[in-house]
Amino acid sequence: MKKLNLRDIKKAKGQKLQVLTCYDFQMAQLFNETDLDMILVGDSVGNVVLGYETTVEVTLNEMEIFGKAVRRGAPDKFLIVDLPFGSYSTVVQGVHSATKLFQTTRCEAIKLEGAFPYQLKLIERLTQTGIPVMGHIGLTPQSVHQLGGYFTHGKTEDDGERLMREARALQAAGCFSIVLEMVEEGVATRITEELKIPTIGIGAGKKTDGQVLVINDLLKMGQRTPPKFCPPIADHYQERKNLITQYLIDQRK
Ligand code: KIV
Repeated sequence: MKKLNLRDIKKAKGQKLQVLTCYDFQMAQLFNETDLDMILVGDSVGNVVLGYETTVEVTLNEMEIFGKAVRRGAPDKFLIVDLPFGSYSTVVQGVHSATKLFQTTRCEAIKLEGAFPYQLKLIERLTQTGIPVMGHIGLTPQSVHQLGGYFTHGKTEDDGERLMREARALQAAGCFSIVLEMVEEGVATRITEELKIPTIGIGAGKKTDGQVLVINDLLKMGQRTPPKFCPPIADHYQERKNLITQYLIDQRK
């Protein structure tokens, strides 16, 4: 399958873009052999691989390590890598961090959370310097302490309007696509209908232009029950546990 470029992705508006997270070389090799449209090295690596409580603990150095591993395994996929918390607290710092991440991981785009004025300015700068940016609004886990938890956004009219404004502003700043995480379905649908760029939903209903899921949730690779919006297609935790338990029994015979 041909590697998608930015123009293909923009043109794929309405065509159900499929995105999965990935954090390691072997899974990246597997994804490289599938029809998956884009790979996201999300800072969710902090939760599912590194065992951190929140993504706030993830560092730029860690994102570089995981981004590089995935790039090596999936040279033929459009790769997006997350800018982690604390690496873009100002425009200057954000330009520096994104440039480093973009160069070292050889990804096609970076993703950052939020739509405050300084973040819009950062997105403008990055896109002008040639770094494609995916936006991310709704539940932005890097701000979990500021938000006061993990919950659906856009449930009230005012909050829905705020999200609409943020989405428009991200598009105007130059984002090629926007992740809508845990955005109320009606609001996510309105944003999707209004924007020219593709929206990628996670826990935002079925009407977005694409979906992104955390691979460890989709395959249930961990102990934790995946979120309701991601019914697992397997139980790799239990399957691997059974295999290893049986292996240990067999070895002792
Ligand atoms: O870090 C991540 O995996 C993400 C997705 C949930 C969109 O940002």
